[in-house]
Amino acid sequence: MARVVDIDEAVRLLRGGAVVALPTETVYGLAADAESPEAVARIFEAKGRPSSHPLIVHLPSVDALDDGWVASIPPVAQRLADLLWPGPLTLIFERGPRVPDAVTGGLETVGIRVPSHPAMRSVLERFGGGLAAPSANRFGAVSPTTAAHVLADLGHRIEAIVDGGDCEVGIESTIVDVSTGVARILRPGAVTREELEAIVGGPVPLAGEDAPRAPGALASHYAPRARIHAVSADEAPQQARELVESHGRVAVLAPPSMILEGDGITRIEVPDDPRERARGLYASLRAVDAGAFDHAVVVLPDESGLGAAIADRLRKAAGPRGEA
Ligand code: TXA
Ligand code: MG
Repeated sequence: MARVVDIDEAVRLLRGGAVVALPTETVYGLAADAESPEAVARIFEAKGRPSSHPLIVHLPSVDALDDGWVASIPPVAQRLADLLWPGPLTLIFERGPRVPDAVTGGLETVGIRVPSHPAMRSVLERFGGGLAAPSANRFGAVSPTTAAHVLADLGHRIEAIVDGGDCEVGIESTIVDVSTGVARILRPGAVTREELEAIVGGPVPLAGEDAPRAPGALASHYAPRARIHAVSADEAPQQARELVESHGRVAVLAPPSMILEGDGITRIEVPDDPRERARGLYASLRAVDAGAFDHAVVVLPDESGLGAAIADRLRKAAGPRGEA
């Protein structure tokens, strides 16, 4: 079982090429030295993720970008980085010479993020280099927002974890491709489209299906064992009744204000406030499995602001299985 370690021990292990789970403000990450292909390979092995899926490199500061991690910094990228880092934003750049193929899956671009979680920042500052880190869950499964989540998923596959408490944001970073000099969103996340557009001073479109390696291109992702049915508030009660008829019992992830009744229906309460909902989103999906439900109806939020990212994750959790 993984040991819970302090920051000094985490840095020592990372320098030795180990994989260590670390807290970030979004979700826990599974980190290794980004410049060591052998260490990076251990991430893919622990996660069970195909090695063609690129990883995000985490850096201690905006200034570190210049140290060979990216080929160039377009003005729009500099602006976003200056205003939103440290924070839950990943920027895709043309890769620099320090980035091995093992990190990018052979792509000519690299994703970079400067996280804000104090424990993660301490590790990065003391480590000195970049840390490649995907979310610390098995490939395709629900992302972890507590140390207990990580230990449940990967405890037997990794050596160590830093326990930084519950993740403040609870949903992954927004990924914005700036490699062409024009910003577009590859994955909605904790930084909203509205915030990005206010900073850029114009539209920041969501990349279409044609985007190279768009995260979540897989139909199913962020998924618990139970089947998830993501529906509007109007549809939820009817959908729940139908599932009870065919399966006997069903969980419904709904705000307290929604009227739900009937035998076999168990409400798992989710908050109305989007920030709170994001923070508890993955824990609520895990609660479905903990309750041994085979099916759960999940009410989609209003899709403005943070709601866009929450809805994106819920649709992927509800996506057809098979790939993951
Ligand atoms: O909040 C987060 O972003 C968390 C924390 C740990 O930082 N990390 C995270 O990593 O969500 P991961 O690997 O679970 O998701 C990152 C996504 C992947 O789906 C990958 O396809 C995409 O980022 N990605 C990474 N590099 C890319 C690149 N060069 N071009 C396009 N997509 C990229
Ligand atoms: Mg992930």
